[in-house]
Amino acid sequence: MPEDSQQQPDRPETLSMSEEDWYDHPKWYDVLHARGTAAEVTGIEVIAQRFAGWDPDDRYLNLLEPACGTARHLRVGARRGHHCWGIDLAEPMLEYGRERLREAGLKATLLNLDMTAFSANDLGLGHRRIDVAFCFINSVRHLPTDEAMVSHLRSVKRVLAREGVYALGIGLASYGSERESEDVWKGKRGQCAVTQMAQYLPPPNLIVGQRGSEIEPHRNERVISQLAVTTPTREVFVSHAFSLRTYDASEWQAVLKKAGLEVVGLVDEFGDDLDWDWRAGAPGYAVFLLR
Ligand SMILES: C[S@@+](CC[C@H](N)C(=O)[O-])C[C@H]1O[C@@H](n2cnc3c(N)ncnc32)[C@H](O)[C@@H]1O
Repeated sequence: MPEDSQQQPDRPETLSMSEEDWYDHPKWYDVLHARGTAAEVTGIEVIAQRFAGWDPDDRYLNLLEPACGTARHLRVGARRGHHCWGIDLAEPMLEYGRERLREAGLKATLLNLDMTAFSANDLGLGHRRIDVAFCFINSVRHLPTDEAMVSHLRSVKRVLAREGVYALGIGLASYGSERESEDVWKGKRGQCAVTQMAQYLPPPNLIVGQRGSEIEPHRNERVISQLAVTTPTREVFVSHAFSLRTYDASEWQAVLKKAGLEVVGLVDEFGDDLDWDWRAGAPGYAVFLLR
């Protein structure tokens, strides 16, 4: 039965998923996050003009998205003529992205690679280098250790053009001062509607990290997600939880220093300057422009 036929939903299904399983449902992910994607790609173009010496009348951009997921940004980028590379570890997300590119007659290179360690060769860049690498909405906080983060940052640095930048969207923590929070995301495509309520539990500051353990308890934010997916034939409720590694200002400075990267700008997702003294330690989200 096609998803869009007019039959009433049966009884709602309930699913409980692990972190990885969420990325086995690329269509739900893509529908949920589609809104605002084109504006964010415009933001990347603004960043390229302001920080990477790009002249739009001169040439198209070389763009790289580590942890690209369904490649929602790269599909827009490719439609605008840019040369696009995306890497991710979740094959279903990549395959969904490739299929949508094929349907639209667009080209982008989507590769199953770990963002912790990759090279220009792995991407098949040849003599080309990346003008803007970008990774938003805290995706880098999936990396489980500071070492993995440093290795990731070094990999990106190696593939950037001389004037290229890495636009990295990350929220910084302020241990002990944060409270639980929540937000609601909604998306709709055709007759498929997806709503997600996410609850964010800051790390319990009093738990001291265990030396040598892979994930220190005090560096994890727990995200609890309740998802509702509705089509004319199906109603599914999904509960799902995952952890994101946390960085406060000094932890973030330390990994940037180790990776040999400097902050050359601080902007929002539209490429506009943010007036936030992030080194002072207040929590917040920004797109860090790194080189
Ligand atoms: C929140 S999604 C973001 C997807 C996309 N960047 C977007 O904005 O829609 C996070 C993605 O990170 C990917 N990921 C997590 N760890 C990774 C790693 N070590 N290397 C590559 N991708 C990774 C997941 O498979 C998932 O697709």
